[in-house]
Amino acid sequence: MISTKLFLAFVLLYVSAAAESKRNFKCPSGCACSRETIICVGASHVPRTIPSEINSLCIFMMQTFFLSVIFFSLNRLLNANSLTTIKDDAFSGLPHLEYLFIEGNKIETITKKAFLCYHALYQDLRGNSFQCSCENKWLMTWLKNTNATVSDVFCSGPSHMKGKRLSDLPIPPGECISTGKKTSAPSKSMSADIFSFKEDIFVATAAPNTNSCVVMEWDHIEMNFRKFDNITGKSVVGCKSVLIDNHVLIIVTQLFGGSHIYKFDVQQNKFIKFQTIEVFNISKPNDIEVFKMDGVWYFVIVDSSKAGMSTLYKWTKQPDRNETGFYSYQFLHEWFRDTDAEFVEVDGKSYLILASRSQSPVIFLWNKSTLKFILHGEIPNVDDMVAVKAFREEDEMYLALTCYIGDSKVLKWRNKQFTEVQALPSRGAMILQPFSFADRHYLALGSDYSFTHIYLWDKETKTFHKFKDIYVQSPRSFTVLSTDHRNFIFSSSLKGKSMVFEHVFVDLSL
Ligand SMILES: *[C@@H]1O[C@H](CO)[C@@H](O)[C@H](O)[C@H]1NC(C)=O
Ligand SMILES: *[C@@H]1O[C@H](CO)[C@@H](O)[C@H](O)[C@H]1NC(C)=O
Ligand SMILES: *[C@@H]1O[C@H](CO)[C@@H](O)[C@H](O)[C@H]1NC(C)=O
Ligand SMILES: *[C@@H]1O[C@H](CO)[C@@H](O)[C@H](O)[C@H]1NC(C)=O
Ligand SMILES: *[C@@H]1O[C@H](CO)[C@@H](O)[C@H](O)[C@H]1NC(C)=O
Repeated sequence: MISTKLFLAFVLLYVSAAAESKRNFKCPSGCACSRETIICVGASHVPRTIPSEINSLCIFMMQTFFLSVIFFSLNRLLNANSLTTIKDDAFSGLPHLEYLFIEGNKIETITKKAFLCYHALYQDLRGNSFQCSCENKWLMTWLKNTNATVSDVFCSGPSHMKGKRLSDLPIPPGECISTGKKTSAPSKSMSADIFSFKEDIFVATAAPNTNSCVVMEWDHIEMNFRKFDNITGKSVVGCKSVLIDNHVLIIVTQLFGGSHIYKFDVQQNKFIKFQTIEVFNISKPNDIEVFKMDGVWYFVIVDSSKAGMSTLYKWTKQPDRNETGFYSYQFLHEWFRDTDAEFVEVDGKSYLILASRSQSPVIFLWNKSTLKFILHGEIPNVDDMVAVKAFREEDEMYLALTCYIGDSKVLKWRNKQFTEVQALPSRGAMILQPFSFADRHYLALGSDYSFTHIYLWDKETKTFHKFKDIYVQSPRSFTVLSTDHRNFIFSSSLKGKSMVFEHVFVDLSL
């Protein structure tokens, strides 16, 4: 073993010396070279020159005792000795690897995937600066359980963990997601609605500061939204899409100047005005809820003024006007300063739940014979809820109710009514948004005063557990987007920049 290490030390020096010259590189015999990687199996010598693009060099040699050895390096190691992460696929294709020497670098994290093909019996990881954070939890678990001889590994951070032996640490509970790369979208916004059309993904955001409804398109390379169209108006407060008969319509609500529907014009590649909607009894639109019932499209404009009424609109053909559009169909709720509406289908019935500033949330039931919503009841013991969102968990229906001052609540539909299952302390909360990525279910509780808390659903206790904090200034909505096998959360911010977070799930089980 000692002779092997000496040999490796030699290789390192040798390569360092040769790292400067990059031209005229010829892949040595016994090696496989790609643009970024050189893998040499049973090579008799080490390449003399390493092109700068190469960031992974693996030399896999047959020694006298039939040992397989890897010398692994990155370009940055050669130059600055500062290898900080190991690429996911660094060791793939090397199933017989037995020795790994990556000591003396500044490795902070190694992903589990990088280890997948790696069954080394001996590892020397000394001198690396491992972050004892949840991203390395799998490594802690592995160090505790492995039968391989592994040198001691110490934490170099975070500060309270510094100097501790990785294998001595208790395994941190829970799982690990990293919110990953964070990018910001151009504008402030108070709502966000993601929709896809012809295989492209868009977000429509209400941007009151620029008096517009900004439509952005997902850029699959930049992994962010870029500007697509800008529906300008006056005091825009709502911006919501509905896809009908292969057309994209966007409902734009305004405080002044009426509310309108825009339609995407394929020829002009922009949104053009399609219809002005009747806003007889609307005076302060606060939310738009779109839904389909028995094959017919509806939306509700929720009115938050004392003098207004939340109004249900229906997609109909008006014989007298000879045109199809959304027309007011039912005036719902008088003088209650409604803030949010949620359409829910449960046990074969359709309900509309309205949250109001002045009373408990009320439930309307769709009457299938009169084809109108009728007041059905209220959700008792919850006051001053600013938002209501429904979600399903293991086939059960739940509601997430947001409270600005006091506790936000999670309720479950049980015996034909909603009963409280969990209270989440919230201050300055305008949104409690359920969302899911595959079988992981979350709640994002936004706050105007501090961090947004992300809660994760626990299948055992059937409640949410605090999971992670992210920061968004005055968050107003969280909307998810899954594309290219990656998951993102778009959060609109009323006062700062709207943000895109990536949901990076680190699988910690080994
Ligand atoms: C370690 O060795 C024990 C005893 O031989 C065995 O039961 C166990 O499965 C081994 N663990 C691993 C991770 O290989
Ligand atoms: C949209 O248009 C408004 C008014 O013309 C402008 O102030 C605003 O900056 C535009 N927004 C974007 C994102 O281009
Ligand atoms: C709602 O608007 C309709 C149509 O303009 C009007 O006839 C009705 O009186 C209004 N209702 C209330 C309560 O203001
Ligand atoms: C309704 O509109 C269609 C096409 O726009 C037209 O052909 C038809 O004559 C119109 N009917 C009436 C009654 O106006
Ligand atoms: C629907 O309305 C009709 C007529 O008012 C009424 O007889 C019936 O009981 C209602 N159905 C429900 C489920 O409330």
